[in-house]
Amino acid sequence: MAYQIKTTLVEKSRLPEIDFDNIPFGKTFSDHMFVADYKDGEWQNAEIIPFGHFQIHPAAMALHYGQAIFEGMKASVSHDGKPMFMRPEMHVERFNASAARLMMPSVPAELFLSAIHEIVALDAAWIPPAKGSALYLRPYMFACDEFIGVKPSQTYKFIVFTGPVGPYYPKPVSLYADMHYIRAAAGGTGFAKCAGNYAGSLLPAQNAIDKGYDQVLWLDAKEHKYIQEVGTMNIFFHIGDKLVTPDIEQDTILKGITRDSAIKFWRSKGIEVDERQISIDEVAEAFDKGELKGAFGTGTAAVVAHVHQIAYGDKVMNIEHGNPEGPGQMFKDFIDNLRSGTIKDEFGWIVPVKSSSLTTA
Ligand SMILES: Cc1ncc(COP(=O)(O)O)c(C=O)c1O
Repeated sequence: MAYQIKTTLVEKSRLPEIDFDNIPFGKTFSDHMFVADYKDGEWQNAEIIPFGHFQIHPAAMALHYGQAIFEGMKASVSHDGKPMFMRPEMHVERFNASAARLMMPSVPAELFLSAIHEIVALDAAWIPPAKGSALYLRPYMFACDEFIGVKPSQTYKFIVFTGPVGPYYPKPVSLYADMHYIRAAAGGTGFAKCAGNYAGSLLPAQNAIDKGYDQVLWLDAKEHKYIQEVGTMNIFFHIGDKLVTPDIEQDTILKGITRDSAIKFWRSKGIEVDERQISIDEVAEAFDKGELKGAFGTGTAAVVAHVHQIAYGDKVMNIEHGNPEGPGQMFKDFIDNLRSGTIKDEFGWIVPVKSSSLTTA
C-alpha cells in the first residue's frame, strides 16, 4: 500500500540559527517532523508538519501504562554531499519486535521507510557535514486511547523527528557491575526498546555515578553473574586473541544494530567473535591472568566506547584501552569512513536517501 504524505512546510527555517560546530546533544531539533495516526485498525493521516508541540489527552494510555517504544538511528552525508542511512531496515525490524512485545500495532516497513526518507530528504540541510557528525532520527510510537484501565490501546501515534548531532568523542568509561539492581529478566521486555526499560535504569545508573563510576554493567536477574549489556550499549571483551560478547538468544538484551555490524566486520577481518554467556567471574579471571586486552561498548551514539575500568564487588579492574590498532578503533574508523563514503560499501549497508522532496530540491 502506498502512503500519501501530506507536507506542510515551515514558514521560516531555524537552520541559520544553528552552529554546526557547537551542537548540544539531544537539544537541537530540525524544522519538520513526520506524524501518522493508527485508528480503526490502520495507519492514516501520514503527514510532515513543522516541528513543534502537540496536544495530548490527560488520560492518554501511554502516560499511565507505558505503551511507548522508540528507535535511535542516524543519517549522514558522504564527502560528496549525498545523504544516506545505514541498515535502516534493521531499525524497522527491531521497532516492530518492540511493538509486538507491547501489543502495539506494527508500522509497515513501507510507511516507516517512507517517513524517514521523506523527513531526511526535506531537512537534508540539517545533516552536519563533518566526519563523525550526523542527523539523529527518533522514530517512536505511543498509545493514545483516552482510557483508565489496563488493556492495549486501540489508537497510537507514530512520529519521527530529527536533530543534528556533533562528532561523538567518547571518553573511556568506567563500569559498575551491579549485583543488586537488574535491567531485565528472562520473559520480560529487555529485548524491546520500550520507554519503561530506560525509566527503570535511572536509579541504578545514579547509584553507579554516586559510587564514582560512569555506567552500570548489567548482570543477569537470576544469578547476578552473567553479563548482559551497558547503559545504551552492547558490550565486548577482548580476551586473548578473541572477542567475546553476550549472546542475544536470551530475550534480556537489546539486539544492537551496531553490535551486529561490528561482529560482521570483525569476522570479515578474520577476528574470532564468540557470542555466548560470559560471567563477570570469567572477565575477572582473564584480568588476573593478564589476558583481558580490552573491553568496549557498541551503540549508535558512540559507535564504540572503550571501557577503562570495571568494579565488581571489592575488585576494581583497570583495563588497557584505546589501542589505535585494536579491534574497537578499527571498527569505529571503518564506520566513520563508510559514512563519509571514502571506502567501498562491501557489506551493502549504505542506503542513499531517496524521495520526491530530494529530487525536487
Ligand atoms: C539498552 C541498549 N543496548 C544497546 C544499544 C545499542 O544498540 P544500537 O547499536 O542499535 O544503537 C542501545 C541503543 O540503542 C540501547 O539502548
